[in-house]
Amino acid sequence: MTTVTHTPDLLRYTDVPNLSHGDVLTLHEEHLNSGLIALMRLGGYHSIRAVRASGPWIETADGTRLLDLISSYGALNHGHNHPRVVAAARWFDERGDPDLLKEFASPWPAALASNLARLAPEGLGSVFLCNSGTEAVEGALKLAVRSFRGERDRFVYAENSLHGKTFGTLQITGRDKYRGFVPRLPGWPMVPFGDVAAIEAALTDPGSERIAGVVLEPIQGEGGVVVPPAGYLRAVERLCRQHGVLLILDEIQTGIGRAGALFRCQAEGVTPDVLCIAKSLGGGVATIGATITRPELHAAAYGKIEDCLVHTSTFGGRGRACAVAMEALQVAVDEDFAGRSRRTGAWLREQLEGVRARHPNAVRSIRGEGLMIGVELETPDVRVPPLLPRERIRSIATKYLPGVVGAELLHEHGILSSFVLNNPRVLRIYPSLLATREDLAGVPAALDAVLSKGLGRLTGRLLERAVRRDGVRAVLSMVSRW
Ligand SMILES: Cc1ncc(COP(=O)(O)O)c(C=O)c1O
Repeated sequence: MTTVTHTPDLLRYTDVPNLSHGDVLTLHEEHLNSGLIALMRLGGYHSIRAVRASGPWIETADGTRLLDLISSYGALNHGHNHPRVVAAARWFDERGDPDLLKEFASPWPAALASNLARLAPEGLGSVFLCNSGTEAVEGALKLAVRSFRGERDRFVYAENSLHGKTFGTLQITGRDKYRGFVPRLPGWPMVPFGDVAAIEAALTDPGSERIAGVVLEPIQGEGGVVVPPAGYLRAVERLCRQHGVLLILDEIQTGIGRAGALFRCQAEGVTPDVLCIAKSLGGGVATIGATITRPELHAAAYGKIEDCLVHTSTFGGRGRACAVAMEALQVAVDEDFAGRSRRTGAWLREQLEGVRARHPNAVRSIRGEGLMIGVELETPDVRVPPLLPRERIRSIATKYLPGVVGAELLHEHGILSSFVLNNPRVLRIYPSLLATREDLAGVPAALDAVLSKGLGRLTGRLLERAVRRDGVRAVLSMVSRW
């Protein structure tokens, strides 16, 4: 029997910059996520090719500068390609140290873990390193169950929460659209965010003897930048101590200075039992997350030699990512991310309050802490141009309203912002924490100009733009894919 070997013609990475943008879109549609490209087409995002980025600014192939107010959902607190963070990555690469070698005690994760222990609330000195936010939360859930020797294996979590999209974290995700893959487990209480009494009830109801912990974001990001009432986290901390369950705080979005403190729990005077971080821990250059806890909890969960490999991650704690994260943390300290975020955030929110005052029928609230800002929009009467399916478009536009506002900000003002995942009314404003007032000066006027066009008319403008570009049939076909 003869074996026919076929050598496929592979693209070289060096050819990638020379791919035409049409080819890039085709490859996305064929091999990645065609629905996402359809969504981009509708908003007119598909034609933009970003070629360079620095700080809060992105440069496109046609030389346009865009102001990034998404910062990869909080993963770019340092901005794009921060020179010190990039230099740390290059420095590591040039040394030739082993990046991925777990069989010996590597100095890189050891040094990073020690720095994290110094920066985290007191007592949190044991670190598990991983690669993403969801993995950091998975680590927290497993650690909690294990530290109770499996006798407690349920969690209290909040409505509208988002802690990741893997199977375990979906169990504590507060929105059905994302958690639909897993059945709602009985005895895992989902409580309204900000409601202390609901948590107290969850910790005293029959079945609560199986509760291992309460998992919360200090400020809900994807839930719509929801700041809980003052004192909420402290009260929850007290309840957790009183009932002998763990407080697990997900600071994947609020952390590394985003919400006006290095970790938001520090501003609240709260010490969780487990702290989860990721996103900006990598300074926008490395892919890294961490689950930080008390050493005695780690010992209870995995302290025996037999258990030391029960929870692991192949890529977690690799040398390069740790070196980069060390520099990302150093930059956050040297540049006073916490103070900057508080000061620039207070100034920007004040400016945005001015916009709200001029558009009381379009903006319900400006909310957030530091530079974690949400603009809560009113639900308008959406006007739909003729020839397009009115009710369907109205329903889509209502679900994606901040996306419609974002498209107008992008095309007319060069500002990149977006919706949040679990709240169809909130426009996200998360600039780099190093963005200056000068960088951000145009944002309030741009939002003002967009809202002056009438919130209800923006969907029509977006669709008319798409029809002019792609024709009615193409737009109808995109809408029909919803
Ligand atoms: C609060 C929070 N937790 C967890 C995650 C999941 O992080 P990742 O996408 O890195 O898995 C996110 C992602 O947006 C988040 O906002």
